[in-house]
Formats: sequence, C-alpha cells, structure tokens
Amino acid sequence: EGPDAVDVSTFTKQTGLTALDNGFVNTASTKSAITFIDGEQGILRYRGYPIEQLAARSTFLEVAYLLIYGELPTDTQYEAFADNIRRHTLLHEDLKRFFDALPSHAHPMSVLSSAVNALSTYYEDTLDVNDPEQVELNTIRLLAKIPIIAAYAHKKSIGQAFLYPDNSLDFVENFLKLNFGVMAEPYEVNPVLAEALDRLLILHADHEQNASTSTVRLVGSTEANIYASISAGISALYGPLHGGANEAVLNMLGNIQESGEGVDRFVQRVKNKEDGVRLMGFGHRVYKSYDPRARLVKQSADQVLENLGVKDPLLEIALELEHVALNDDYFKERRLYPNVDFYTGLIYKAMGFPTRMFTVLFAIGRLPGWLAHWREANDDPKTKIGRPQQLYIGERERHYPEGRSFE
Ligand code: ACO
Repeated sequence: EGPDAVDVSTFTKQTGLTALDNGFVNTASTKSAITFIDGEQGILRYRGYPIEQLAARSTFLEVAYLLIYGELPTDTQYEAFADNIRRHTLLHEDLKRFFDALPSHAHPMSVLSSAVNALSTYYEDTLDVNDPEQVELNTIRLLAKIPIIAAYAHKKSIGQAFLYPDNSLDFVENFLKLNFGVMAEPYEVNPVLAEALDRLLILHADHEQNASTSTVRLVGSTEANIYASISAGISALYGPLHGGANEAVLNMLGNIQESGEGVDRFVQRVKNKEDGVRLMGFGHRVYKSYDPRARLVKQSADQVLENLGVKDPLLEIALELEHVALNDDYFKERRLYPNVDFYTGLIYKAMGFPTRMFTVLFAIGRLPGWLAHWREANDDPKTKIGRPQQLYIGERERHYPEGRSFE
C-alpha cells in the first residue's frame, strides 16, 4: 500500500505470474495525487483537503479548480477561471438541432454522452492531446458546456424551449435557471437550492479510481481526445451500480410505496437475494464503516426539504429502510452502509428534477474529477496504454470441419 507499493509489472515479469483480480478489488491501476480515501475510517480528501471543510466553505468551481490544478486558486485566479467558463457556455447553434434527432423520451444520460462525443466534431482543429493550450481550452469548454447540454436534455424531455445561458448568474444559478426558467418569464433563484446543489456537486466532484474515472483514464491512455474520454466516463457512470444508483434509489422507494409491501418485507427480499434485488444506495467497494458524503447529503436533505416545506412520504420510507438495514445482521456482517446516493435523489426530486436527470447531475459534479484524472495521466510521461491481461479459459485449439465452406 501507499506510494512505495510493489510495482506489479516488475514483480510479475520477474516471477512470470499473472494476477487475476475480479473487479480490480486489490489491483492499483495507477499512482495519483488527486484524491485520498480511507474506507475503514470514512475519510475523503481532495488534494489533501477534507471533504467536510470543502463542503462547508468552498464552492463547486473552486473545488473544480483545486482538483484540476492541484491548489486552491487566488482571488484573481478564481475570477479568471469562472469568467473563462462563463465565456464558453454557448453551444454551436447546429448542435442544438442534434437534440431534435432524438426522441423526447430519450434517457438524458444517453443524450449527454452522445452530445459530449458530438462536441468534439466542432473542435477538430484543437484536439491535440499533446498541446497543453488545447487541453486547457477543451477543459474549460467541457466545464462550461456540459451543464448546458444537461439542461437542454431536460428541457427537451419536457417539451420546453431551450434558454440561452444568463451570464449575470453564477455557475449553479445559471444551471438552475436553464432547467427551471421558462422563456420570457422572470426566474428567481432560490438561494437555499443553489447552495444545496453547489454542495452536492462538491461531494460528487471526485472519488479516485471509481468505474467512470478509470474508464476516462483508460480511454485517455489510447490518446483518444478528451471529449471521447469524458463521453465514455458518462456511459460508465450511467449504470445502476455506479452513478445510476441515485435514480434506482428513487425508483426503489417509489415501488415500495406503490406496492404497499412494507419495508420489512422488502428488506427480507433483499436478504434472500430474490431476483437479485439489492438495497440501492447501500454498500460501497471502498467504504466499510460509513461514506462521509452520505452524512453530509443527509444534512442537505433536511435543509432543502424544510426550506421547501416538502413532506415526502418517500423520505419516511428511506429513513425506515436505513434504520432497519443498519440494525440487521445481513447488512452489519457485510459492512453495508448508506452511500452518497441514498438521499441525493430525494433532494433532486424536491428541487423539481425528474428522476431520470439525477445521474446527469452526478455527471456534472464528477466532471472536474474526470478532467483532473485525464490530465494527470496525460501529463505523466510514464503513462502507458491501459491493456489488462486475461486468463484464457476457452477451447485450446479446434479445426474448422473438413468440407464446410461458405464460398
Ligand atoms: N444490497 C444488498 N446486498 C448487498 C448490497 C446491497 N446494496 N451491496 C452488496 N451486497 C452484498 C452482496 O450481495 C454480497 O453478499 P454475499 O457475500 O452474500 O454474496 C456482499 O454484500 C458483497 O457485495 P459485492 O457485490 O461483492 O460488493 P462490491 O464491492 O463488488 O459492490 C456495490 C459494491 C456495487 C456498490 C454494491 O454495494 C451495490 O450494488 N450497491 C447498490 C448499488 C449502489 O448503491 N451503487 C452506488 C455505489 S456509490 C457510487 O457509485 C457513487
């Protein structure tokens, strides 16, 4: 463990061994200086700063800067960064027609990953991964344009006109207006919602070598352009075992409510592994005591629901589920605790986002982490193309049947 860990490639070359590690439970794919996690103690730090301090006192854009460039910005650097992002928020008008080609029921995660890949077609003269200025330009473009694409995917799904970004607003306020503002009508940003969303984005901003970030690094290792790499990361995040869990949690709570089966019966089905049903929003590959983000998300849920005066019966079900699970031997023995996704959906729902937008919100939050990791790997001359080994278990050698031919 740690920076002095044995370099497995040297070790296996010397011994002639190949390690098989399903799901990369023990295998490090890289060294990284971005995020530290101690899963036993429930510690998460970005560039050394505890998540609790960042969530309480920083902003999402400052955290993005910290992750990408390694240090907190000075006031001047912060203003320049925010201003640069603001100046890149417009999408090419032709790209807006891209949304017309997709059905209105399209899942916004599919729309987002496709649109991000499509973005690269507008910037083909600036995709050189070895040119730091081009990398910088595309970093800013992605930070600026992904929230706009996300808001347009939302608007498209509800049949409303796209709004142009309002550059008098800050990053999160602008995003809320693009989602909930209606053409030609004034829109007042609720500061409690803006602050809560900003905090949630901070909590999602990086989580070292999770599935989507590893995907971004792997695609990047082929020297594919940064849009292709981020688009692949969005696709990896889509799955219900990863970012898609926030959507799956809400669907699970809704099903428990509609079916009337009751929490105890549902938990019993989970424990019996009936039809592979899991308690979504519970469990984590790394956190085995608690997920520090979940605690902070729970505080935000209380604030937002109180501010909006929302009494969501799904919150009651979630609280009961958490209580039952935390006191049950099945979950205790396997060290399964609420993860970041358990309560986020209830907040997004209270804010007015449809369930299918939840994972998109996660993607906006995770973007700085993806960019930081892509750049860390791209800047490191030791980065090699990622190419795992396999243990072949198929037929040894067979001969194509004599006389068989499609000629
Ligand atoms: N509900 C019920 N049982 C579970 C759950 C769960 N949520 N999570 C794990 N288990 C059980 C498994 O069935 C297994 O039991 P077994 O030993 O009897 O076979 C044991 O706990 C270990 O589980 P694994 O699947 O081996 O753990 P792994 O580290 O591979 O998976 C994961 C982690 C994918 C997060 C898992 O806990 C899960 O599916 N959780 C639900 C989905 C979810 O909330 N994902 C979001 C993760 S956080 C994020 O990506 C932002």
